Amino acid sequence: DRSIKIAPSILSADFADFGREIRAIEDQGADWVHVDVMDGHFVPNLTFGPPAVKAFRRHVTTVMDVHLMIAPVDPYIDAYADAGADILTAHVEAGPHSHRTLQAIRAAGMKAGIALNPGTPAEAVAHLLDLADLVCVMTVNPGFGGQKFIDMTAKVRTLREMIGDREVHIEIDGGVDPTTAPLLAKAGADALVAGSAVFKGGSVDKPDVYGRNIKAI
Ligand code: DX5
Ligand code: ZN
Repeated sequence: DRSIKIAPSILSADFADFGREIRAIEDQGADWVHVDVMDGHFVPNLTFGPPAVKAFRRHVTTVMDVHLMIAPVDPYIDAYADAGADILTAHVEAGPHSHRTLQAIRAAGMKAGIALNPGTPAEAVAHLLDLADLVCVMTVNPGFGGQKFIDMTAKVRTLREMIGDREVHIEIDGGVDPTTAPLLAKAGADALVAGSAVFKGGSVDKPDVYGRNIKAI
């Protein structure tokens, strides 16, 4: 399914009220809920771990898309399966055995994603495409919401060609807004993560803001 999926990132939500925030974005038409897990080691920021993600699951009725910005990944795969992740994405830069990691994610019953930092070329995942359900192209250096978009449309086009007939989503993460979204979709992306563009204003009590942004993206 190559229709465009919008995946709001709850990294920009009210951390004291995730349940309400998740309901609000789903009410406004979110296709997936994007959950950013950071360990203060692979990236210079810390968010939440498996118990919090399991609590989010109680509110997510769509697809829970969990983006791991952690290293190592393998010791935590079962915990995220138990937490109810539908898609679990690991970074190709997070360890020397991405092949094994993707196999383990699928074996645990989840869809497997592989993410690339802006400095990592498309070729880094060439040998992984048969094991991946999703490739996440970072358009910011991971760690924080609200950063400036780095143009990776050439990488997206290369990946879409490398993927060919395979059923692999190309997800974009970082600086997606109504201006960048159409360019990315045209290049071959079909899942767009958006944090600050969706949660602009920082409050869930602004359905006009959510509505306008989610549908405009
Ligand atoms: C960044 C995270 C993103 C982040 C995107 O490290 O992986 O998912 O929430 O935020 P925006 O859309 O504000 O760039
Ligand atoms: Zn993310």
